[in-house]
Amino acid sequence: MVDSFVFRHMKEEDIDQILEVEHASFTTPWSREAFYNEIYNNKFAVYIVLEEYQKIIGYCGAWIVIDEAHVTNVAVLPDYRGKKLGEALLRKMMSMAKDMGARSMTLEVRVTNHVAQSLYRKLGFQNGGIRKNYYSDNQEDALVMWVNL
Ligand SMILES: CC(C)(COP(=O)(O)OP(=O)(O)OC[C@H]1O[C@@H](n2cnc3c(N)ncnc32)[C@H](O)[C@@H]1OP(=O)(O)O)[C@@H](O)C(=O)NCCC(=O)NCCS
Repeated sequence: MVDSFVFRHMKEEDIDQILEVEHASFTTPWSREAFYNEIYNNKFAVYIVLEEYQKIIGYCGAWIVIDEAHVTNVAVLPDYRGKKLGEALLRKMMSMAKDMGARSMTLEVRVTNHVAQSLYRKLGFQNGGIRKNYYSDNQEDALVMWVNL
């Protein structure tokens, strides 16, 4: 990854740019209030952004509860995909979660999202169970994936 990219914690001032990443990435994007609550009202939440020259390229979030980390989201702006930045974001989150005491990491992913599943498998995630009808927009099932940290 080139030196101009930096990781840092998400701040309230980032939310406008985060919403752009969010709307470009998900069929049911999170709201401004959802990110605000994660930043100020959820003591378990850790959100990092990947930034280049004040522009937010992507972000990753997780809830870290005692020894387990649960990834809520990872997304990269479409123009920047395929450059190992999603991988770098998730690797950073895995390393932070481990440093904070997490021993395992889990997440849900749409059963049709083969790109994301491929990223997770590359980083050692294994298939867990299926959560039926997990996504409310199209009743799609979620695949649960997990990895030991
Ligand atoms: C999933 C996402 C974050 C991946 O980010 P990215 O920066 O494009 O991915 P990377 O370049 O870091 O790729 C890392 C690995 O992901 C997988 N991957 C990435 N793009 C892929 C593609 N087009 N097809 C298949 N696998 C792909 C590969 O395993 C790749 O490793 P490799 O390059 O050694 O083959 C990005 O596609 C995205 O934002 N998607 C929309 C939001 C989303 O679906 N998030 C996950 C929700 S659970």
